[in-house]
Amino acid sequence: MERVKNYLNERILPEEMEVIFNSAEEYEELMMMYGCAIREVKTKLEVLNDELSVRYNRNPIEFITTRIKKPVSIVRKLQGKGIEVSVESIMENLNDVAGVRVICSFIDDIYDVAKWLCSQDDIRVVEIKDYIQHPKENGYRSLHLIVEIPVFFTSGKQFMRVEVQIRTVAMDFWASLEHQLRYKRDVENSEEIGKELKECADVIAETDLKMQNIREKIGVFTELT
Ligand code: GTP
Ligand code: MG
Repeated sequence: MERVKNYLNERILPEEMEVIFNSAEEYEELMMMYGCAIREVKTKLEVLNDELSVRYNRNPIEFITTRIKKPVSIVRKLQGKGIEVSVESIMENLNDVAGVRVICSFIDDIYDVAKWLCSQDDIRVVEIKDYIQHPKENGYRSLHLIVEIPVFFTSGKQFMRVEVQIRTVAMDFWASLEHQLRYKRDVENSEEIGKELKECADVIAETDLKMQNIREKIGVFTELT
């Protein structure tokens, strides 16, 4: 009953609640599996960072955050796409139930981290979206990877999908504020605010490039290939 109460706290509509209520145990197991997949990806990233730190005195990763999509968001996303809500369809249709966000110091670090992660031979790369080379119209920048990682359970090996967003501290700062403001913007001046946010994103991108250039000038880091 404790489990069900947790779901109830999240303002789920009756029909959505019913879906999760009926498969609470199965659902809990699936979320456990996504949680394990997140830990596997996070460990891989931490291993990379530790190795670089010891060998080259370089820490490309500032910090890592993770999240599992809330049940209410899972159900709404599936219903929004007109897809049936079931454990199988979550696995098949959603790429972002498990999310890992990697915050790097410099733009080059983003591509290095992505390259090192994607070249590991147990990882399957499903999709790469480069919103740094091709920023979104609103100014959003980040590198998005969808990967599948094998997780070993008693029943055998299961590939689990994880969304990895890699960005600089500055890009993260912008995205967090933009995300918060998106829900608070009133209809009247939303265009103006959107324009200002875009300007901020461009200034931030320019600063990221300048920082990258400074790093290259100082040249303290050993070039890795
Ligand atoms: P969705 O998860 O349904 O958005 O799928 P998609 O294929 O459109 O994914 P996309 O890779 O474009 O974005 C996935 C995630 O990136 C979102 O859930 C957000 O966390 C983040 N994101 C994408 N665009 C924006 C944006 O404009 N602003 C902010 N703050 N975050 C964004
Ligand atoms: Mg998403």
